Amino acid sequence: MIEDPKVVLVTGAAAGLGHAVALALVARDVQVGICDIDEAGAARTALDCAEIAQDCASVIISDLATPDGPDQAVREMLARFGRIDGMVNNAGYATVEAFLEMTAAAWDRTFEVNVRAVALLCAAAGKAMKVRGGGRIVNVTSPAARMALPNYAHYAASKAAVDSITRTAAIALAPNGIRVNSLAPGMMDTEMQERTERMMAEIEGRSDFEAYLDERTARVPVGVRTNTEEMAKLVLWLLLDAPDYVTAERFNGSGGLDRD
Ligand SMILES: NC(=O)c1ccc[n+]([C@@H]2O[C@H](COP(=O)([O-])OP(=O)(O)OC[C@H]3O[C@@H](n4cnc5c(N)ncnc54)[C@H](O)[C@@H]3O)[C@@H](O)[C@H]2O)c1
Repeated sequence: MIEDPKVVLVTGAAAGLGHAVALALVARDVQVGICDIDEAGAARTALDCAEIAQDCASVIISDLATPDGPDQAVREMLARFGRIDGMVNNAGYATVEAFLEMTAAAWDRTFEVNVRAVALLCAAAGKAMKVRGGGRIVNVTSPAARMALPNYAHYAASKAAVDSITRTAAIALAPNGIRVNSLAPGMMDTEMQERTERMMAEIEGRSDFEAYLDERTARVPVGVRTNTEEMAKLVLWLLLDAPDYVTAERFNGSGGLDRD
């Protein structure tokens, strides 16, 4: 068991939740690998990290949708830091298509990024963590995994697959001192969220976008949306602070929207 993860790979760290997680980790003296396909965004995150602590973050450019992307990201982490104690599988892709109009291309891209990359990263990082005697992995899932969303079928199914991978990886890696959990964040106003909600509004024939957003927010039992900083706190708890006995858990941060 690794008592205190000090080197953490964060995927999708160029923007949104991954950016907030990277900053929060650096503030806790963790060395962070900022992994993303977006070079300019990753460089911005590195600059933001440097304002908190010098030499704590390193950019790793990888297209995780490619077959070798996940292995390449882990190889680069090991080349830069010599070890990996923790990983946040946060990179995600989402698009919106009416159920009867859905395309193979959208299914492929969604599953390459949200599913295959997550599984391959768990295996690649798991191997490196096993050598060190332990580690922690947090996969980012979504309330969508357990909802019926006709225009968001690929995304919802991909996050249900993330829940499955989290359970499988937790059991596979438990004997090696590696803990695997997931976080289901509520609605955060990131670039992905705005883009997909605009697509949803269009498909649903809603021209008043603000009214559409208000209705969606009103469905959250606590009555408001959350944000990346709040959700980063939950990621850090699972990654750094949770008791070692916590594994295979799906932590819900959705303000009551997603519940058992
Ligand atoms: N925003 C929300 O309300 C919300 C709710 C539930 C779950 N989530 C999940 O949270 C995670 C973060 O989402 P976000 O809202 O911050 O999105 P975002 O679009 O702001 O950030 C996602 C990041 O992933 C990167 N990425 C995408 N494809 C990649 C690839 N092939 N290789 C490497 N990097 C890639 C993007 O470049 C981007 O920097 C995602 O897994 C998303 O599904 C988001």
